[in-house]
Amino acid sequence: MHIIIRETHKAMSLEAARAVASLIQRKPSAVIGLATGETPIALYEELIRLHREERLDFSRVTTFNLDEYLGLAALHPGSFHHYMKKRLFDHVNLGKDRIRMLSGRFAADEKDAISRHCEEYEQAIAAAGGIDLQILGIGANGHIGFNEPGSSLGSRTRLVALQKKTQQDNAVFFDDDPDKVPHHAVTMGIGTILEAKSLLVLALGQHKAEIVRKALEGPVTAMVPASALQLHRNAIIILDNEAASLLTRDTDQSLTPPI
Ligand code: PGA
Repeated sequence: MHIIIRETHKAMSLEAARAVASLIQRKPSAVIGLATGETPIALYEELIRLHREERLDFSRVTTFNLDEYLGLAALHPGSFHHYMKKRLFDHVNLGKDRIRMLSGRFAADEKDAISRHCEEYEQAIAAAGGIDLQILGIGANGHIGFNEPGSSLGSRTRLVALQKKTQQDNAVFFDDDPDKVPHHAVTMGIGTILEAKSLLVLALGQHKAEIVRKALEGPVTAMVPASALQLHRNAIIILDNEAASLLTRDTDQSLTPPI
């Protein structure tokens, strides 16, 4: 794991955008895994700026999003489809047929249809040649994607139930009302995520410091899904000072190779 610590949210987002842009420059047909939530918003803003001002070209890039709520219309303002459209897709030259997202159109009891959909998503990732770079946030409860504590470290794309903590944390996208946050979601599994060739993991803020310490320095356990990152051979973790504040390992930045 390479841990990169930057003073501010802005600085860490620029660093993350630089990593994404340099992949696209090296490999214009890169396959990129995308995440939602508050953490990557500034990263997407910088990618849009790079596209507009420095002609970063997304035309051959393929994207796969990590997860989606179940039971929301695609354009519901709380859906990840809506988030991605607003925060990235409407502003860069990604081809529509190269944008892949899990669908939330199912009811939670449509188990067979959901597992077929999830299997097709796994097959689509494989057919695209696998994910070159997966962007990830870390939930305050340690989830990656919507893999809540207790998820198998080998899990695949599937239907999951969301924990109360996640509903509370994500209420900001649902009029600050946790009861409006769906109870179920579909998510890439931890096993699926770990197959990406590289991971770009972002965390910011004091409220993430404790879970970042557990994920990066604690034991690898299904109860802290983000601890699975320790198993990946090419994970870059970008933190702001606050999220890194409880790490005890040597995080001397002069030892960290630039990305
Ligand atoms: P956040 O969520 O970026 O809104 O903090 C991170 C996550 O749940 O993965």
